[in-house]
Amino acid sequence: MTPVLALQLMFLACTLPHVKAETKSDFLNARANLLSLEHGLKTGGDLALNDMERAVNKVLMALKVKELETALGSGSFPPSAHFFHAKPAIEQSKVFQFIRKMPKGAALHLHDDSLTDLSWLVKNATYQPDCFMCLNRQHGMLQFTFSGSWPAQDPNCNWRRVNNTRIETGNATKFDAELVANMSLIREDPKMAYPTQAAVWKAFEGVLTVANGLIFYSPVFKAYFYEALREFYEDNVQYIELRGLLPQIYELDGTTHDEEWVVAAYKEVTEQFVKDYPDFSGAKFIYSSIRAFNQSDIAKDVAKALKLRAKFPSFFAGYDLVGQEDPGHPLVYFLDTLLQPGQQKPPLDLPYFFHAGETDWEGMAVDNNIVDAILLNTTRIGHGFALAKHPVAMDLARKKGIPIEVCPISNQVLKLVDDLRDHPVSFLLAQGHPVVISADDPSVWGAKGLSYDFYQAFMAMGGVDADLAFLKKLALDSLRYSSMAEDERSKAMELFQQKWKLFLHDVLSNGI
Ligand SMILES: *[C@@H]1O[C@H](CO)[C@@H](O)[C@H](O)[C@H]1NC(C)=O
Ligand SMILES: *[C@@H]1O[C@H](CO)[C@@H](O)[C@H](O)[C@H]1NC(C)=O
Ligand SMILES: *[C@@H]1O[C@H](CO)[C@@H](O)[C@H](O)[C@H]1NC(C)=O
Ligand SMILES: *[C@@H]1O[C@H](CO)[C@@H](O)[C@H](O)[C@H]1NC(C)=O
Ligand SMILES: *[C@@H]1O[C@H](CO)[C@@H](O)[C@H](O)[C@H]1NC(C)=O
Ligand SMILES: *[C@@H]1O[C@H](CO)[C@@H](O)[C@H](O)[C@H]1NC(C)=O
Ligand SMILES: [Zn+2]
Repeated sequence: MTPVLALQLMFLACTLPHVKAETKSDFLNARANLLSLEHGLKTGGDLALNDMERAVNKVLMALKVKELETALGSGSFPPSAHFFHAKPAIEQSKVFQFIRKMPKGAALHLHDDSLTDLSWLVKNATYQPDCFMCLNRQHGMLQFTFSGSWPAQDPNCNWRRVNNTRIETGNATKFDAELVANMSLIREDPKMAYPTQAAVWKAFEGVLTVANGLIFYSPVFKAYFYEALREFYEDNVQYIELRGLLPQIYELDGTTHDEEWVVAAYKEVTEQFVKDYPDFSGAKFIYSSIRAFNQSDIAKDVAKALKLRAKFPSFFAGYDLVGQEDPGHPLVYFLDTLLQPGQQKPPLDLPYFFHAGETDWEGMAVDNNIVDAILLNTTRIGHGFALAKHPVAMDLARKKGIPIEVCPISNQVLKLVDDLRDHPVSFLLAQGHPVVISADDPSVWGAKGLSYDFYQAFMAMGGVDADLAFLKKLALDSLRYSSMAEDERSKAMELFQQKWKLFLHDVLSNGI
């Protein structure tokens, strides 16, 4: 139990008129009191809305109640259905349209090669004349590369120019849709296509590999990241933090760039974007290694991370380990390396942002990653899906101000939970545990920006009484828990307040 919660419960015990309600009105008073205390504890329960916000809240809650009534009537509630099937209904939703318009602050849990709409990627990358493709005979997936001359012979891969192949098929629309499908997890029947978590992760890694052939070509790489920023900006997100593996980025003649070049490229694109869109607060980068790697690989990567942190102190935010958690190495396997920066005199500066507890298991090594992440002073926990099973770790995280980065659609598509009303984070939101909402890999499941995930959190995970205060709190917390320096944060907060006021005016004068 958190100290805040313990205090509130003590207060409740004192203020309940009689434990045995003698009259009906005593009972109803006690009941109202209890419910109001619970409402006060939930995320946003401590935010007082001003007059204008209360007016906008009325608009929002009328829409929400109407959609919940429709769901009860029809028996179909979008957050309970698989996102691939629910997406059209979500896009029709007025609540979703409200959320799209609403300033949402920051998206703090994203990955560099799954940020941007796949149709954009196909239109921009594969229409370039130097783009080649093949259907790889070994794994049955498409493979892309850019090359100034014909790519090297490969027995598994009969390279052809994409532009010619597109013409030969006779239907460019159909062809482009197939290219998108090769980089997406979307299937007609996801339960059949992906019977297990292992199956969906294998497919997930497969589609990312296909897309990487396009994204890692230097001009596409920069345009892709610029477009990602534009899509988040368009979705009324003002700042992002992205994780990335720092892959080798290649040129037409086959030369490749090292990690420092890649970080510099992200930084330059971000600066260009902020120049073009001054009401955007920017981006920061978190280097992430693959947790299936061995100890010596990770020791090398941590050394690289320390160098990059020193070279780009404000843009390079820190270090993480990624990949499917269940079969990967637990954090404790890398303990010697992960403790090392803090053991130096003076300690070396390398903030951590560990993915931890992205699992359905309890008590396995992977689920104990939550404990290790907190003890290693992680800045935030990626997912933290299993946190509610660890009361002491939960309390400690709260005391240390370590939020979890919750990505509802990711958790559903990657098969941790089916019906998002059953998402364990609803228990944490009910007691105001620090949470930020993010999108993880939106392109891979056909989402865009942050609004789809915000919608799911609002409709299914915060409870029926989650209102504008809940949404505003999530937005404010996303800026609060970002890695921005204090001066950057106060500027971003100011910008948020301006956007928020404009939004309230817009809703009251133009509706949704
Ligand atoms: C991407 O493609 C769109 C549509 O063809 C085009 O308007 C835009 O300029 C392209 N952007 C880049 C960076 O290539
Ligand atoms: C595809 O690009 C190549 C290389 O620029 C060019 O020679 C060829 O004519 C193009 N094909 C089509 C159908 O445009
Ligand atoms: C091309 O394919 C699309 C989608 O598969 C289909 O709707 C369209 O009718 C096709 N166009 C032609 C000219 O066959
Ligand atoms: C991948 O692309 C190939 C070639 O265009 C196509 O035959 C195949 O159906 C695509 N895969 C999916 C899952 O759509
Ligand atoms: C660790 O893995 C790398 C490949 O990623 C390999 O080259 C190296 O030999 C491995 N080291 C140990 C100690 O197993
Ligand atoms: C975590 O932070 C605490 C308080 O600053 C410090 O005492 C501890 O050594 C840190 N732990 C690690 C593993 O760096
Ligand atoms: Zn992730």
